[in-house]
Amino acid sequence: MTKPLIMKQTHISIEQLEKQFGEQIQQTHEQIEAGTSIGAEFLGWRHLPSEIDQSELKKVKETADHLRKLAEVVVVIGVGGSYLGAKAVQDALSPYFNKNDNDPEVIFAGQNLSGAYMKQLLQHIGDKEAAVIVISKSGTTTEPAIAFRILLEYMENRYGTDANERIVAITDKSKGALRELANRSGFTTFVVPDDVGGRFSVLTPVGLLPIAVSGIDIMQLLEGAKDAMEAYTVPSLSENDAYQYAAVRNYLLNEGYNIEILASFTPNFATFHEWWKQLFGESEGKDGKGIYPASVAYPTDLHSLGQYVQDGRREIFETFVQFAETNEDCDIPTTEDNLDGLNYLSDKTMNEINDVTLQATMQAHQDGGVPLVHLTVGNQDAYHIGYTIYFFEMACTMSAYLLGVNPFDQPGVEEYKKNIFRMLEKPGFTE
Ligand code: PA5
Repeated sequence: MTKPLIMKQTHISIEQLEKQFGEQIQQTHEQIEAGTSIGAEFLGWRHLPSEIDQSELKKVKETADHLRKLAEVVVVIGVGGSYLGAKAVQDALSPYFNKNDNDPEVIFAGQNLSGAYMKQLLQHIGDKEAAVIVISKSGTTTEPAIAFRILLEYMENRYGTDANERIVAITDKSKGALRELANRSGFTTFVVPDDVGGRFSVLTPVGLLPIAVSGIDIMQLLEGAKDAMEAYTVPSLSENDAYQYAAVRNYLLNEGYNIEILASFTPNFATFHEWWKQLFGESEGKDGKGIYPASVAYPTDLHSLGQYVQDGRREIFETFVQFAETNEDCDIPTTEDNLDGLNYLSDKTMNEINDVTLQATMQAHQDGGVPLVHLTVGNQDAYHIGYTIYFFEMACTMSAYLLGVNPFDQPGVEEYKKNIFRMLEKPGFTE
């Protein structure tokens, strides 16, 4: 069987990589397995695909069915790891236009503080039947908390005590304001496991519930992640693409390439780029270290950032994600007069031209001095997206360890919060 994800890179031989990183990877792998690596108390994501509680999974599916039946619009409230995974998967697996009539519209809130956004969101709900999923691991994050306060008031005004059957909270099992509110109000709740951090939580109810609500097969998603989990348990760098990717990234960083651009030619994969940026940015960017994670959606961005990538400061490497198979395509018609001069393309489809453009771009950027990583993912379906999620989670963890940081904390995120609390005069924060 072809591997669901194939990794190639242009810059260093596997023997050299092995020489530089093989031993460190072997040791780190053993520490991860033994649960002795830094931050090991947050390694719970590793076994989620095979160990997720079956009764929990059943409850996720039942709750998703319940919300799908009663709501035309489901508002998912969350920020960072509490929404990016769900949105990434939904966008990657949903049609561009004409969503299925049986699927509720899923919209996100709590990821910004725009009053205009919230006002228009409420207007957009209008008289459509509504439900709310509120997600916050800590249960105290300001952005989603404000959004939920507004939407809770809206739901209670509209549905009275019946609002409860339309609200689901996903949070810590015992701590945080959201847990307390949920317990008091009697919403359906799910727990974010203690040993899974926000940005690694897409395969818990945090991601699975909103994804299931939008009609995507979460079993296939988990199946893909499970196969990746099995594929990436080998410690040997040459047999483990996730570890190889981690090693290449660190090799390139040491060579002065401190910006990584994730690039794809698949428009609805763009939100996955955002999930990836959070995963790597928050896991690695600390203690004055890290690779800055950026992204481009080609060919659109070839006409804006392409010039810089080709010809600007040489501190960038690029990771291309390409789907080997696509489910839909469009032919290029032949015209009699050939006024636009495009008849030479009329034996090709748009996707074929897209693939050629990807190859042409990779070649040009490599010639321009940009080291490349090329990830070929089998198909743009739930199985392969699940597989790819796990690939990046494993690679990110190893990469952060090679860099010498704890992948699972985010001390820097707290700084701005202290400032806003002080500036907004939150009790206890005025000094
Ligand atoms: O990865 C993380 O831990 C963060 O990005 C969090 O997901 C984000 O800050 C939201 O936190 P919470 O779920 O506690 O509201």
